[in-house]
Amino acid sequence: MKEAGAIAVERLSESEARAELQRLADEIARHDRAYHQEDAPIISDADYDRLRRRNAAIEKRFPTLIRPDSPSRKVAPGPAQGFAKVTHRRPMLSLENAFDDEDVQGFFKGVRNFFVKPEDVAKVEPDTIELMAEPKIDGLSANLIYEHGTLILGATRGDGTVGEDVTANLRTLADVPKQLKGKAPDLMEVRGEVYMTRDDFLAMNQAQEAAGEKIFANPRNAAAGSVRQLDPTITQSRPLRFLAYAFGEISGPVAKTQAEFYKRLQGWGFKVNPLAKHVAGVEAALAFHARMLAERPGIPYDIDGVVYKVNEFALQERLGMVSRAPRWAIAHKFPAEQARTRVNEIWISVGRTGALTPVAELEPVNVGGVMVSRATLHNEDEIQRKDVRVGDLVIVQRAGDVIPQIVAIVPEERPKGARAFKFPDHCPVCGSLAMREPDAVVRRCTAGLTCPAQAVERLRHFVSRDAFDIEGLGDKHIRAFYEDGLVKSPPDLFTLEERDGKGRPPIAEREGWGPISAKKLFDAISQRRRIPLDRFIYALGIRQVGQATAKLLARHYGTLEAWRKAMEEAQDQSSEAFTDLDAIDQIGPSLATDLLAFFAEQHNRETLDQLKHLVAVEPFVQPRTTGSPVAGKTVVFTGTLVEMTRSEAKARAESLGAKVAGSVSKKTDYLVVGADAGSKAAKAAELGVKTLSEQEWLTLIG
Ligand code: IVH
Repeated sequence: MKEAGAIAVERLSESEARAELQRLADEIARHDRAYHQEDAPIISDADYDRLRRRNAAIEKRFPTLIRPDSPSRKVAPGPAQGFAKVTHRRPMLSLENAFDDEDVQGFFKGVRNFFVKPEDVAKVEPDTIELMAEPKIDGLSANLIYEHGTLILGATRGDGTVGEDVTANLRTLADVPKQLKGKAPDLMEVRGEVYMTRDDFLAMNQAQEAAGEKIFANPRNAAAGSVRQLDPTITQSRPLRFLAYAFGEISGPVAKTQAEFYKRLQGWGFKVNPLAKHVAGVEAALAFHARMLAERPGIPYDIDGVVYKVNEFALQERLGMVSRAPRWAIAHKFPAEQARTRVNEIWISVGRTGALTPVAELEPVNVGGVMVSRATLHNEDEIQRKDVRVGDLVIVQRAGDVIPQIVAIVPEERPKGARAFKFPDHCPVCGSLAMREPDAVVRRCTAGLTCPAQAVERLRHFVSRDAFDIEGLGDKHIRAFYEDGLVKSPPDLFTLEERDGKGRPPIAEREGWGPISAKKLFDAISQRRRIPLDRFIYALGIRQVGQATAKLLARHYGTLEAWRKAMEEAQDQSSEAFTDLDAIDQIGPSLATDLLAFFAEQHNRETLDQLKHLVAVEPFVQPRTTGSPVAGKTVVFTGTLVEMTRSEAKARAESLGAKVAGSVSKKTDYLVVGADAGSKAAKAAELGVKTLSEQEWLTLIG
């Protein structure tokens, strides 16, 4: 639809403009309804864009005529708070990284050692193992759900478990089929990467700049920012592409191998990476890596390494995953990008657990497409070892998402009079003593939560994306709230709204806030009054307890009450609770010490008491194990198994919802005994724990 007869914007009189704006508002609203609610667009997307652009152009010329119901003011359909959250039917995994050939060899030795029967081992010998090798695209991953061949949902990865519903946006990508060709399974989740080519990115940034709009730092950020637009017409105007490379839940088998799966994807109308190569043996995979590294400048989009995937799906399935990454795939990263720049200043940051970290402020420099103005110097020993001084010329490097690091200084470029950095023995924020525990490299402020830096960092961690995920509460705000005494510890967040304005100026009237942003913040906080147990544990910011450990604990203890009771009882090292904690696989003595130390502190117990009344912590839900005979049971394996290795047995048990422990206790439900079992069998007999042979176990789990 061309705007036939439409008067050029520059020639419109004021009254014509007023009438035209009204017509456009009505017309665009009609198309919005047709597209979003009736799923039956009347005009092409390009024509729709033209209407919106004309509306914007007229508004620019006549700002006083902007209508209250103008399409430019309306946020696109969808929850005003942002995007609805969607729990992925199957978690979206990340990949383990390998940085050199040795890491890759090690990974594939692990794959071989996972199996024990000769016919299995034969398929995974590193010399001959069949792999898919393909570029690792630097974009953002997306999940597309198809029911009976129709796209019904598109989501971002989020934290891997819960993503955001960006269906309306992903629908606008030409590479995303709305309807699959040919016969597709009843239900299928297709995963892949949304990305932008470098040329498209540069052109888009130029256009953005010309229009006085936001400029993106690199294609990856541009792609991510474009997908997370509340107005899908903006997403549509961005040059986004999509390559498919994996599946999530699927109602029936569609292929036996990764290679065959890519062919099927193409048949359904997806694009797959034409550079993906089916190779035999790890050497061939490494050669692929070398070739991609050499060809990287000519590849039109950013890649940060290659991915190797075990080709056969039956093997993939048996290999399963460890914490958040599959055991059947690995990312072989390209070497880090480096650049030279000057150190302008060195200061000490104080983290959530009191760790003092030296940070270098740098003369901003472009390192492989990203501007870097700060680098970590890790700790006291590192800064001394590298002898980094203010004024030094240094080599900085950036690998993947990690914080930029200083590799070395350039000694001949050292300015005269540069003095060695003296590491403080007191906390630069609160002045308390900062000490190093024996054998530790980290120096820590001893003030705990009375140190404002630690308190603020803990709050920041508490609201961060993988924890409580409270949107609209940036670092600056947290610090301001803390300094003002408004939010001193996490529970204060949940009473913020009722206390707002009492004795202090209301948030809406503070600098950087308004009524809308304040309301949004209160809404964001109240939306998070329910939280899964693992996120809650992670949010507490206990030393060494990252997301994977938090999940492990949630899975083991099930509820907040059970976990807390166990941690309090385990303070007594002769208790059963301690034995039980100690028996959890992957929880070593140092982690156990940190956990117990957290619960030993009065202050932390009080925080938990308060939070208990303010938030609902959801019990851990065992993943998809309905009908599993061993869901929730605790199993210990001992002795040599013949059908599968210990690792595979454990992976299998866990995928069926069982907990695998390292030693036998009263809580053990089954001890599975292989050949040459040692003392564990005797212990089980003593405690009356049921003992199964390997065959009996296999029969039990079917
Ligand atoms: S496969 C279970 N293949 O890398 C395996 N991922 O670090 C799922 N990525 O979140 C991923 N290119 O965003 C796979 N060819 C590729 C990829 C790729 C880029 C990203 C993806 C994923 C991340 C993992």
